[in-house]
Amino acid sequence: MKRLDYLTAGESHGPQLTAIIRGVPAGLYLSADYINRDLARRQQGYGRGARMKIEKDTVQIVGGVRKGYTLGSPIALVITNQDYQVWREQMDPEPGQLDDQRVVTRPRPGHADLPGVLKFGQRDARNILERASARETAARVAVGSICRRLLEEFGISIFSHVVNIGGIRVNTKGLDFETIRTCAENSDLRVARPEVESQMKELIRKAKENGDTVGGVYEVIATGVPVGLGNTMNWDEKLDARLAYGLMSCQAIKGVSVGMGFDVADNLGSSVHDPIAFTDDPAERERLVRERGRGPSGGFFHLSNNAGGIEGGMSNGEPIIVRAVMKPIATLMRPLQSVDLKTKDSFEAVRERSDVCAVPAAAVVGEAIVAFVLAQAFLEKFGGDSVAEIKANYCNYIEYLDAY
Ligand SMILES: Cc1cc2nc3c(=O)[nH]c(=O)nc-3n(C[C@H](O)[C@H](O)[C@H](O)COP(=O)(O)O)c2cc1C
Repeated sequence: MKRLDYLTAGESHGPQLTAIIRGVPAGLYLSADYINRDLARRQQGYGRGARMKIEKDTVQIVGGVRKGYTLGSPIALVITNQDYQVWREQMDPEPGQLDDQRVVTRPRPGHADLPGVLKFGQRDARNILERASARETAARVAVGSICRRLLEEFGISIFSHVVNIGGIRVNTKGLDFETIRTCAENSDLRVARPEVESQMKELIRKAKENGDTVGGVYEVIATGVPVGLGNTMNWDEKLDARLAYGLMSCQAIKGVSVGMGFDVADNLGSSVHDPIAFTDDPAERERLVRERGRGPSGGFFHLSNNAGGIEGGMSNGEPIIVRAVMKPIATLMRPLQSVDLKTKDSFEAVRERSDVCAVPAAAVVGEAIVAFVLAQAFLEKFGGDSVAEIKANYCNYIEYLDAY
C-alpha cells in the first residue's frame, strides 16, 4: 500500500495553487465548505498584509470525490489566485517576452531569492520567490483539512494557539484544552489569554511603524490519539521525527519541540518523565478521555504529559503537544542591504507586499501539517481501502487494548 502522500504546485501570483493527495480511503464525507473553513482561518490574524484583504481563498475539489464522499482515488484540489489577472502579463505560463523593467535583480535577505537564483541558474529572482512564498501553505492547509476530516471520524481533534509573539509569552498553565481552543479561536492573535493580546498588538503595531517585523512560537495540540502511532523500530517512522520534519518544512519555521521541549535541559529526570498509572474503572477512563484529551490506551495513562504524548517515537495515548518557532517576517519595509545580481552593487532589497506578523496563520498551517502526519501514521496502523474497513481495524485494536 502506498503511504498517504501529497504534492502541491503553483506560484504565488500564478493562475492557481494545485494539490493532489493520494491514499485517502473511500467513503469519507468531505465538502469544499469544510476545507474553506480552514482556508479562512489561515487568512486571519492581526499583522497580516494587504493580500489577505484582497483574496478570500476557496477550494474547488476537482477529483477524487463524488456527491460528498471520497472515492479512494487521488483527490485533486484547486485554489484560484484571485489577483492573477493583475499579474497575468508577468506570470502567464505561455511563451512570451518578459518586461525587463520588472525583473527582480535584488535578492531579499532572509528569503530563498539568492540561493535559489544561483542554484537554478536564474537571473530573475521572481522565478524563485514565486514558489518559495508561503502562499503555498494555502494548498497545504487544504490537504491538512482532508486529513483532519479523516481523523475526526476516530475522535482525534487538532487545534492550535500562539504562545509567544516577539518575546511576549502566554502562560496557559491552569487552562483546560477547551478554554485554550475557544479563546484562541476568538482571538486576533490566536492567544488563549485575552489580557496578553493587547500587549502583543502594540508590539506588532510599533514594529510596523518602524518598518520592522515580528516572529513567535505556536503550539499544536492533538487530542484523542490512540497509543501506538509511529514506530520505534525504524528511524524514519518515528512520530516525533516526522512531526518535526513536517513542521520545519513550513516557510519561516526555524525550530520544533515536543512536549516540554528544550526546557528538559533545565530539569532533573525525576521532574521530566511522566509516571505511568492504570485504571480499570470505565468511568475514570471516560473522564481521562473527556477532560484530559487522552486517546485509547487500554486504561494505562500518565500522571503528567511532559513528553507531549510521544515516547520512543510512538504516541503513548496522551495528547500530542508540539511547538514551532517562526522567525520574524523577512520582508522589511525598512529593507536590509543586498547586492544587485546584475551590477553587483549594494542596494536596499526590493519589497514585496508583506505581513508584519504571521504567527497566527502559521499556527493554522501547523495544524494542517500535524493532521497530515497523524493521518499518515494512523493509516499505516489501521489502513484499509474504505473508512468502514479502517473503523473495523480500529475497533479491533481498541478491543485488544481493553482486554490487555
Ligand atoms: C503563513 C505565513 C505567511 C508568511 N508571510 C510572509 C510575508 O508576507 N512576507 C515575507 O517576507 N515572508 C512571509 N513568510 C515567510 C517566508 O515565506 C519565508 O521566510 C521565506 O520563504 C524563506 O524561507 P525560510 O524562512 O524557511 O528560510 C510567511 C510564512 C508563513 C508560514
